Amino acid sequence: MWSKKISSSFLLLFLLHLILFYIVYLGAHPVNNEDSAASHTHMKILSSVKGSYVDAQESMVYSYKKSFDAFAAKLSSNEAKKLERMDEVLSVIPNRYHKLHTTRSWDFIGLPQKARRNLKTESDIIVGLLDTGITPESKSFKGDGLGPPPAKWKGTCGHFANFSGCNNKIIGANYFKLDGNPDPADILSPLDVDGHGTHTSSTLAGNQVPNANLFGLANGTARGAVPSARVAMYKVCWASSGCSDMDILAAYDAAIHDGVDVISVSIGGGGSSYVSDIIAIGAFHAIKKGIITVASAGNDGPNLGSVLNHAPWLVTVAASGIDRDFISKVHLGNGKDVSGVGVSTFSPKKNLYPIVSGVDVAQSSQTKEAEFCFEGALVKKLVKGKIVVCESGLYMPAGTGEKVKKAGGAGLLLLNSDAEGEELIADPHILPAASLGSSKPSASLVFQGSVYGNTAPVMAAFSSRGPSSAGPDVIKPDVTAPGVNILAAWPPKPSPSMLKSDKRSVPFNIISGTSMSCPHVSGLASLLKSEHNNWSPAEIKSALMTTAYTINNKRSPISDVSSNSSQPASPFAFGSGHVDPESAADPGLVYDITTEDYLLYLCSLNYNSSQIALFSNGVNFTCPGTSVVQSGDLNYPSFSVIFDHDRRKTSVTYKRTVKNVGSIPSTYAVQVKEPAGVSVSVEPKTLRFKKMGEKMSYKVRFVALGGATSTNSSFGSLTLVAEKYRVRSPIAVLWI
Ligand SMILES: *[C@@H]1O[C@H](CO)[C@@H](O)[C@H](O)[C@H]1NC(C)=O
Ligand SMILES: *[C@@H]1O[C@H](CO)[C@@H](O)[C@H](O)[C@H]1NC(C)=O
Ligand SMILES: *[C@@H]1O[C@H](CO)[C@@H](O)[C@H](O)[C@H]1NC(C)=O
Ligand SMILES: *[C@@H]1O[C@H](CO)[C@@H](O)[C@H](O)[C@H]1NC(C)=O
Ligand SMILES: *[C@@H]1O[C@H](CO)[C@@H](O)[C@H](O)[C@H]1NC(C)=O
Ligand SMILES: *[C@@H]1O[C@H](CO)[C@@H](O)[C@H](O)[C@H]1NC(C)=O
Repeated sequence: MWSKKISSSFLLLFLLHLILFYIVYLGAHPVNNEDSAASHTHMKILSSVKGSYVDAQESMVYSYKKSFDAFAAKLSSNEAKKLERMDEVLSVIPNRYHKLHTTRSWDFIGLPQKARRNLKTESDIIVGLLDTGITPESKSFKGDGLGPPPAKWKGTCGHFANFSGCNNKIIGANYFKLDGNPDPADILSPLDVDGHGTHTSSTLAGNQVPNANLFGLANGTARGAVPSARVAMYKVCWASSGCSDMDILAAYDAAIHDGVDVISVSIGGGGSSYVSDIIAIGAFHAIKKGIITVASAGNDGPNLGSVLNHAPWLVTVAASGIDRDFISKVHLGNGKDVSGVGVSTFSPKKNLYPIVSGVDVAQSSQTKEAEFCFEGALVKKLVKGKIVVCESGLYMPAGTGEKVKKAGGAGLLLLNSDAEGEELIADPHILPAASLGSSKPSASLVFQGSVYGNTAPVMAAFSSRGPSSAGPDVIKPDVTAPGVNILAAWPPKPSPSMLKSDKRSVPFNIISGTSMSCPHVSGLASLLKSEHNNWSPAEIKSALMTTAYTINNKRSPISDVSSNSSQPASPFAFGSGHVDPESAADPGLVYDITTEDYLLYLCSLNYNSSQIALFSNGVNFTCPGTSVVQSGDLNYPSFSVIFDHDRRKTSVTYKRTVKNVGSIPSTYAVQVKEPAGVSVSVEPKTLRFKKMGEKMSYKVRFVALGGATSTNSSFGSLTLVAEKYRVRSPIAVLWI
């Protein structure tokens, strides 16, 4: 899951399942919507390698046939190879398992509760989430006041175990568990036993719920971006095994057919090639039907190149903090105070407790483990009644609290690792606890509550960074949104700390991750869709990107919590910047991209015809000569420029086309902030629009002046400026 710090037990399960299941992708012939015909073809193909119809029947897992032509089956690696060689078969993709990667956040983001909006068109919007399920009993998902589902809705909602069924808010709920492996920690039902899916759905489209808080913290009206929109939950993530490719693809197949407007995926994507990335493949089929997919960038920051879900047809969302913190004050014996953050309802019994560091109370030979306060590494006798200082490590922070509590400790001070820097994530602890930055203090813990007005946004250290491993010629992530300490709906189980030993039950919880920032942007995409029904997925994304801001609430460039220099955050951290709903609704100009443009982009990256057929699905798409297409010409609303170290390539020229969706007449002038070491020239320098919907093109030439900069990268921007509009595109230059 893309919420922060999930235990590593997921990884083991990954490997166990790896070789069993494959997705067999067809598509050389058009999709046949008649169930029996498609299934028949699938069985025929499978029988030919299995030897008999009966064996094929046994190994067939699922026929995808609503939105694309593929099936999932249990295969040996030999059978997989045989299938791959067949003419009808485009690709055989081994099934993999992936990790999953508020109230206040909407005011911070600039979408006030009383914002004027068209509730009628908003209630026609259907958002689809691929996630852990949902909690129908939550106040965030009551159907009161909403009419019946929009007429376009073709989805279903059945009665399932412990699932009370749908209403006019949750209009679709289904689960996908194609591997058939029982999961005793979960339930075969769209019911959410994890909390992740309930949290993301309510951030996206939850009702307005007054007095929402966690132990009094973050008290306010909880609401989604589009509180009148309808929710369709496709449960694909399971407590033990995570989220598998087969299930994700089945959910896409259903969601596209069902008629959702926006798909939100807070799940880890796959690897450095689009052809094995199921989230990318599913999303491509979705955009062909005008459905935009918004996905989380991942929580593997701050390492460069860690961004996932980086296909250019996805909206890739990074995470940043809002201007609210939950402060725990630490009174030190020497009279000084240190601030940390934490969510804890426990009032300390004494004024002052002795502080010990985990290392100082370690079992012999376990000093390394004791640094992180691992189970069994601490000497109970020495811990009893003390506040223990631990490094943040493998466990979820609340897990570290549990270890300290088990060892008899009175409280926990959790220190960040160097990579986390001064990042402060509030976690619901089961004993008095606070997270501190990486500077070590030498105590009592006083919990102060919610504090507002901090500098924000600040890029979260955990948020994955670009450049993209599959296509560095497009800047990824695209935008950032709130993903730190977000309050949203929560199921009655699990407890807020997600620890078994914790028996508390809460209707709202505070968690962090790009999983949490993703539904903020899915919500804004839904809002744009409701206001501009004719905008393509690329135009919606363009509007979100070109209006994003890069300046914080203290009028300085948005900073990066993982950087201890004064360098502002770069486009590899936040893409075009922080989303701005009001400007995005009226962006002036948009950059559109057709599905054919994306196929040409794949040609430019030297994907071959059978790989491209995965996306074109049945249409025999022929790439023009590779000298004709260059990846940088994809009509993306940002610029990524790659130069060679050895100066074989010192200049490139990219073409862009913009469409007028603002006012008429309007004249745009080009403003460029040149990246260090690069000159930028634009032709023509002004664009005059006389009609709505009118398109105009310009060319940008980037010339490397000398060698690479010391960091092998530099950044700038190109902005088209009219009286009322600023259409901004970041420029990222890489020397590789
Ligand atoms: C399902 O309902 C039964 C009966 O109320 C209950 O015992 C069980 O814990 C529930 N399971 C989940 C996962 O909520
Ligand atoms: C939350 O705020 C409301 C309205 O300001 C107030 O009535 C309520 O008591 C508050 N709840 C908590 C737990 O602070
Ligand atoms: C931060 O400071 C430490 C110690 O001074 C240094 O080792 C590290 O490289 C710095 N990190 C950044 C991102 O500047
Ligand atoms: C395309 O590339 C893949 C992977 O390298 C290869 O298996 C396949 O045979 C190629 N197809 C064509 C038509 O060249
Ligand atoms: C696709 O087109 C090429 C060239 O026109 C042709 O050789 C090939 O057979 C076609 N493939 C399919 C599956 O129709
Ligand atoms: C820049 O690239 C060169 C050549 O690839 C490499 O040797 C050097 O370490 C890189 N510098 C940085 C700061 O990454």
